Amino acid sequence: MSRRHFVQTSALAASSVAFSVTTTRSYARPKSANDKLGIGVIGVGGRGNSHLSMLKRIIDDGDNIDIVAVCDIYRPRLERAAQEYHARAYMDHNELIADPRVDIVCIATPDHIHGYQAIDAAYAGKDIYCEKPVTHWRQFELTKRLAKAVAESNCVFQLGTQAMSDSAWQQMKKLVQDGLIGQPLFGETGFFRIGDWGERDMPIDDANATVGADLLWEKFLGDAPRLEFNIDRFFRWRLFEDYAGGPVTDLYPHSLTQVIDILGVGFPDRVVALGGIHRYDYELREVPDTFNLLAQYPENVTISVLGTQANDYNATTTRGAGQRCPVIRGWDGSLSIIDNKEILFTPLQVRGAKPPQRFDIKFGEDNIQHWRNLIQCSRERNKETWSPMPLAYKTQTVLHMAMLAYRKKQTAQFDHEKEQIVLS
Ligand SMILES: NC(=O)c1ccc[n+]([C@@H]2O[C@H](COP(=O)([O-])OP(=O)(O)OC[C@H]3O[C@@H](n4cnc5c(N)ncnc54)[C@H](O)[C@@H]3O)[C@@H](O)[C@H]2O)c1
Repeated sequence: MSRRHFVQTSALAASSVAFSVTTTRSYARPKSANDKLGIGVIGVGGRGNSHLSMLKRIIDDGDNIDIVAVCDIYRPRLERAAQEYHARAYMDHNELIADPRVDIVCIATPDHIHGYQAIDAAYAGKDIYCEKPVTHWRQFELTKRLAKAVAESNCVFQLGTQAMSDSAWQQMKKLVQDGLIGQPLFGETGFFRIGDWGERDMPIDDANATVGADLLWEKFLGDAPRLEFNIDRFFRWRLFEDYAGGPVTDLYPHSLTQVIDILGVGFPDRVVALGGIHRYDYELREVPDTFNLLAQYPENVTISVLGTQANDYNATTTRGAGQRCPVIRGWDGSLSIIDNKEILFTPLQVRGAKPPQRFDIKFGEDNIQHWRNLIQCSRERNKETWSPMPLAYKTQTVLHMAMLAYRKKQTAQFDHEKEQIVLS
């Protein structure tokens, strides 16, 4: 990989500020277990590098996949990843997507970039592992467009909510579908953590970095307001509302997705939300550290998501990355998790027709299995991944509504007919 190649790709990338939607739709052909799948990773910062090392483990375990390309708009990170994984380097995500050796595109860029890159990948006939949140909190229309792009194309899509690889949630969902808890009524979940970890602590690789061929600031901005280059905004984007949403969009996809899936609900009628910066009130931080939301569904189901980044005590069991285990309440009883090993069914005392029951959890969250699930679905052309786009759309709609309601101090309603969020 020559410096000249980098300069060429950088210049090309810098010349096109807007994201382009690829219009050619070449649908991927089925791949058998023996065919090699090429993977391209866009965004090789913290999470992108985790993906690369997970993919390396999958390759070392003998799966016939290959890391063929990487993309980043910050050249030092791009160079490092390209060299370490012997992958082709691109500074423009559309060039990576157009690379015929790329079958699956992994998107690990900042939140406000995901949706555009995923739409480009879907319409180019590529399969997608997209990091959560699927879009930025202000981009509801983009979420809709992405849902349409994935539905219209033959794209197999997995959202990076790796908690969905945990069998506990599939088992709970089956128990609810089988009628064990009777009419589903309420799902309580949340995420409690200590520290502002990935925000103030996001590394600044080079305090003297400047915009130019090695750092494409316009590409970073995407559809966000056009501001002068700012080192904190670039390296510590999680602090800023233009690019992130705090725990709402960073953490709650890991807690809410499974509860929506277990309860089998669609889009909510109304969402109310309260929150703020209650602990980490320092100069740069714009996003809340404490956030609580309630979503009410036409199915007569309510979901609550509570959380703060200022106290990590968990009254109920946590699983995976620390997300609080949900309690699922129905008219005949409730489901909860005991000792991280069992699902407990507790019948409602006053109705008491059913005995208490315990079910062993088969396996826990596993990010590698989340990847394997996508790889297998990609080979089988099966769109039913563990965390597919229709589910991501439902989850993200609640998060959009919550963040908009919180910022405007209003209630968010969902117009089901027009598929629109209305604040009042
Ligand atoms: N599923 C999980 O457990 C998990 C964990 C961590 C992060 N994430 C998600 O992964 C995403 C990335 O987070 P991170 O911590 O790695 O951030 P990061 O800042 O460390 O990495 C993002 C990278 O994207 C690059 N980039 C920015 N704009 C780009 C563009 N237009 N095209 C190509 N590259 C671009 C940046 O230069 C940077 O190297 C976030 O959306 C985050 O929510 C998920």
